[in-house]
Amino acid sequence: MDRTFVMVKPDGVARGLIGEVVSRLERKGFKMVAARLERLPEKRVMEQYREHLEKPFFPSLRHYIESGPCFLMVWEGRDAAAVVRKIVGATNPAEAAPGTIRGDLAMDIGRNVIHASDSPGSADREIAIHFSAGELVSYKRVDEPVLYE
Ligand code: RTP
Ligand code: MG
Repeated sequence: MDRTFVMVKPDGVARGLIGEVVSRLERKGFKMVAARLERLPEKRVMEQYREHLEKPFFPSLRHYIESGPCFLMVWEGRDAAAVVRKIVGATNPAEAAPGTIRGDLAMDIGRNVIHASDSPGSADREIAIHFSAGELVSYKRVDEPVLYE
């Protein structure tokens, strides 16, 4: 089954939105296989956002992500990376469709509540940055037989 990395950013944690985010992914049918609440060390922020190191917004992005605890998760399900990105919505909450997490719950591109891997390759890379193989658990959801044909 496919996996993706999802993170409630410090604004989402501070606003009490962890449960809302988890609930939306659970109700969709995804299975959480790892989770941790923590303040990210600088090294892992740099690795997580390495594609943006030279961008003008990087210093403020880094400051934002390091400003408080994040809630890190790994979710499993068919086409996890692509489908979760749709649930998350466009990067800028002003352009994110209603019904998406950013469309429903955020106002500002610099405070957009959630991160999700943008491809299966990014998902593998990001999961490995934040979790060891032993932290990913294996279990069955009781509704798995009805979630998939
Ligand atoms: P993320 O990586 O956090 O899931 O977001 P994303 O793929 O939708 O967007 P990405 O282009 O990867 O940007 C990463 C995060 O950087 C902040 N950002 N600020 N001020 C700006 O123009 C700007 N652009 C991006 C956002 O927090 C974005 O989620
Ligand atoms: Mg991104």
